[in-house]
Amino acid sequence: MKLLNNMQLGSLDLKNRVIMAPMTRMRSMPDGVPTDLNATYYAQRAGAGLIITEATAISKGSLGYINAPSIYNADHVDGWKKVVNAVHAEGGKVFLQMFHVGRISHHDLLGGSEPVAPSSVPARGEVHTLSGKKSYSTPRALELSEITDVITEFKIAAQHAKDAGFDGIELHAANGYLLNQFIDSTSNRRTDNYGGSKENRGRFLFEVIDAVTKVWDSNRVGIRLSPSGLLHDAGDSNPRDTYGYIIEKLNDYNLAYLHLMNPTLPIDNHPEMEPDVIGFYGKLYKGNVIMNGGFTRETGNDLVESGQADMISYGKLFISNPDLPKRFELNAGYNEFDPNSIYGGSGAEGYTDYPILE
Ligand SMILES: Cc1cc2nc3c(=O)[nH]c(=O)nc-3n(C[C@H](O)[C@H](O)[C@H](O)COP(=O)(O)O)c2cc1C
Repeated sequence: MKLLNNMQLGSLDLKNRVIMAPMTRMRSMPDGVPTDLNATYYAQRAGAGLIITEATAISKGSLGYINAPSIYNADHVDGWKKVVNAVHAEGGKVFLQMFHVGRISHHDLLGGSEPVAPSSVPARGEVHTLSGKKSYSTPRALELSEITDVITEFKIAAQHAKDAGFDGIELHAANGYLLNQFIDSTSNRRTDNYGGSKENRGRFLFEVIDAVTKVWDSNRVGIRLSPSGLLHDAGDSNPRDTYGYIIEKLNDYNLAYLHLMNPTLPIDNHPEMEPDVIGFYGKLYKGNVIMNGGFTRETGNDLVESGQADMISYGKLFISNPDLPKRFELNAGYNEFDPNSIYGGSGAEGYTDYPILE
């Protein structure tokens, strides 16, 4: 099956098109340093054509998850080196997913400082803090000069990822985090050059891409978008127009790939949201497309065979099946997914103890 065929991703040779989707597991050190167990977890999944790590904070101000990893200091780089080396030792390839959560946070997670966002519009919903669940804090709108600072933070984080030995990076511009908050009209109410028109709302993303491609060859930089996503209170009044513009402009950058997500929340009451993500948005992109969201071995392979996507990323199936590509190849059964051990904990349970085929 074509899903299991190798492919060229820019200058990288991928052994198959089964990609491990980025997944937050909240099992790093409290200061964001990846652990030996994190290295074991990713190395177990090195059979993927490409692993995309869990979302990783680019700066102190970008934190939103307890025990999620970061990449803004030397200790983070050293921790990630262990992960990267372990994956490479097993013959795998790995990209670091980088993010800034923006308003999807709480001042308790930010040393008492307010979260920052394009505009001072709070997201509806709750976040886990050390003292329980709390409503998202009302964010402070970034000053113009601070936007430049955040772009620099992305660039420094991209350099750190390079220092750690990653094969590339993925910019997380999906799921309602900072890059997504700038794009969407519901979260971006700015009246300067970074708000208003779709061109202005897209400016921050393209300036971040310009910054990180000074560090990495563009063909080692991927980008993740959720144009029909409502997660974390995301939403745009005219996503087909906004994301159509963004994706067509991405064609100019010779990126490693565009990683598109199917909606993870129901969009029945949202006629503005396009249900056919790959048919509508995928078509607009000329380079490599990774498609994600609810795929099986068969539906993923069908999409690749039909030429609509080049690769498929799998999330939950990769949590419970470290050797997923091998299981696809043998058409073997799957381990049962344990919903109670998804996040947190310091031990192997639900993390590195899922059975691997002999
Ligand atoms: C436990 C968990 C953590 C996730 N964390 C992230 C993340 O850090 N970054 C991201 O872009 N998506 C994240 N996602 C979304 C997944 O990458 C993926 O889009 C989703 O699971 C749908 O794919 P699937 O149906 O194959 O599981 C997460 C999903 C799960 C289940």
